[in-house]
Amino acid sequence: MERATDERNRLNDLTNKEWLRETKSFWMSKAPPRDALKLQHPATFSECDIERLIRLFTKSGQTVLDPFVGVGSTLIACLRAGRRGIGIELSSQWYETAQQRLSGETGKGIPEETTLILGDAGTELAQMAPASVDFIVTSPPYWRILNKDGQKVSTERTSHDLPTNYGNDEQNLGNVGDYGEFLTKLGTIFGQCARVLRARQYMAVIASDFRHGPRYHLFHADLAGKLEEHGFVLKGTIMLLQDSKNLYAYGIPYAFVPNIHHQQILILQKPQADPTGR
Ligand SMILES: C[S@@+](CC[C@H](N)C(=O)[O-])C[C@H]1O[C@@H](n2cnc3c(N)ncnc32)[C@H](O)[C@@H]1O
Repeated sequence: MERATDERNRLNDLTNKEWLRETKSFWMSKAPPRDALKLQHPATFSECDIERLIRLFTKSGQTVLDPFVGVGSTLIACLRAGRRGIGIELSSQWYETAQQRLSGETGKGIPEETTLILGDAGTELAQMAPASVDFIVTSPPYWRILNKDGQKVSTERTSHDLPTNYGNDEQNLGNVGDYGEFLTKLGTIFGQCARVLRARQYMAVIASDFRHGPRYHLFHADLAGKLEEHGFVLKGTIMLLQDSKNLYAYGIPYAFVPNIHHQQILILQKPQADPTGR
């Protein structure tokens, strides 16, 4: 079968036929069972799904950044796809778990093409050179939803002695009390992301909507608005369907309460610099 990439293709190493398949507005998530190390973290994404995004938005050898890298799933996906990876994580617990997972992946420590940074994303990004990365893929905290008591998933995790949130560091965006303030802080970090991304390159942000008290927050839409304020242009969304998650009988038999079994992948582009300087 022919594997030739179109010579006009500056974005990825896919054939036009392979690229066509990835333009569907929904993907079925592929999430193999998490091993014991990965299970420690309460909100990871699947390396398979992230590798697919990396292969769509970069060429071999390019550099991918995840400013909220957790236990290193993006960096593992980078290794599998033959890309350079940079990950930033605030919590030393998740940073150390990411180190262990990367060593387990390679069998010989953290390779030269991987950079794992312990620190606050805003501070660390400010030290990176402008236009130095080719793609950003990440999933930020979804406000403070992991800090809510009595959630079925967290009760289950507690019964297995697993952490239920990101820890209590006040710089952790998962601990910001007010939703508006949380979005503002997140926007500032993504403003730094826009600075370090090369012009015309893409960013994919995985975000789920969520319930808080009586309200359902369209977090992905609120976030998309913030990202546009910070210099990105929204190009589309891919709905990531997670059909193998447990169903809980929320609300039954009194009210409609959804099991949220999808994530939105926001696809944004950094525009070419405006020649008028505006
Ligand atoms: C949704 S999790 C990401 C999980 C990751 N995708 C994985 O698969 O391991 C968000 C992460 O952002 C981290 N975080 C929160 N605030 C941060 C900050 N200010 N700087 C850097 N990391 C932060 C949290 O500790 C958490 O691990």
